[in-house]
Amino acid sequence: MRVIITGGTGLIGRALVPLLLQEGYQIVVLSRHPSQARLPADVQVVPWDARTASGWGHWVEGATAIVNLAGESIAGTGLIPARWTKARKQRILESRVHATRAVVEAIDQAREKPQVLVQGSAIGYYGGRVDDTILDENAPPGQDFLAQVVRQWEAASEPVEAWGVRRVLARTGLVLSTQGGSLPPTMLPFRFFLGGPLGSGQQWWSWIHLQDEVRALHFLLTHPQASGPFNLTAPHPVTNREFALTLGQVMGRPAFLPTPGWLLRLTLGELADLLLKGQRVLPKRLLDLGFQFAFPTLEMALEELLRK
Ligand SMILES: NC(=O)c1ccc[n+]([C@@H]2O[C@H](COP(=O)([O-])OP(=O)(O)OC[C@H]3O[C@@H](n4cnc5c(N)ncnc54)[C@H](OP(=O)(O)O)[C@@H]3O)[C@@H](O)[C@H]2O)c1
Repeated sequence: MRVIITGGTGLIGRALVPLLLQEGYQIVVLSRHPSQARLPADVQVVPWDARTASGWGHWVEGATAIVNLAGESIAGTGLIPARWTKARKQRILESRVHATRAVVEAIDQAREKPQVLVQGSAIGYYGGRVDDTILDENAPPGQDFLAQVVRQWEAASEPVEAWGVRRVLARTGLVLSTQGGSLPPTMLPFRFFLGGPLGSGQQWWSWIHLQDEVRALHFLLTHPQASGPFNLTAPHPVTNREFALTLGQVMGRPAFLPTPGWLLRLTLGELADLLLKGQRVLPKRLLDLGFQFAFPTLEMALEELLRK
């Protein structure tokens, strides 16, 4: 029972690894910088260039699953989000498409193909919006930059279906963790009593606790009837205003100082849309299959993350 994880050194991968080890899987993580990987000793960390199958493709032979998470960070790796230059936008797109093509190439070459490809994806698929429309997996794709990235990222994995490999598209929302992702930068102004809604605060933020994210990935990996797109978001998304109020409440800080949208646009450029727009997404297909969230409400998730 071998699972190969690309980008397994990242926020989601590092949390997925212990869960899969506990379930008895042998784990192979593909990394561009294996010596820097901080993973348990029983994980095999294998170098790859995230572009081709050469040097690592043989690991796919007879593997149970591949979880494909690799991709250049969308908001940058520091506490302050990094602006989208033309070069960064290109890396955000190409890193995902090239890595996925490499995975597809390796699956093509394998005589005994994996049963399932869990393909990383994002709710950015639906486009950044400011309305209250409820979006499930049948909602049409958006048109903005991230929506185009996600469509091409998903599409790059499509060939495996013709070879009988079950393909799951894990359309992930805002992953909440204190170890990385969007929560630590969001908390920063609250620490200094400067927290509040961003822009109008009416944009929807569809979030998921990191533990539920990796539980859902494992659930989809092991349920043979799961294929196609799945929204990995908690069943109770909130507006940004509600997010700020709940975060302030849990941190014991005020949450009334709005950050004007124009200021975010001035500082972050196009990336500001990531904060000022959102999607009201529901995990319909996960719920239909019987997945149970450990942290269905934002209050439960933040209490667990910040008060433990
Ligand atoms: N976290 C979220 O809130 C969220 C939400 C929606 C979707 N997602 C998506 O889910 C995936 C995993 O998320 P994450 O938060 O775990 O990401 P992450 O912490 O940024 O980790 C992604 C991993 O991808 C690899 N990587 C980075 N830049 C790369 C590049 N230019 N080319 C190839 N590989 C590269 C890195 O591994 P090595 O350095 O070891 O090669 C890195 O550890 C990402 O693709 C992300 O877009 C995440």
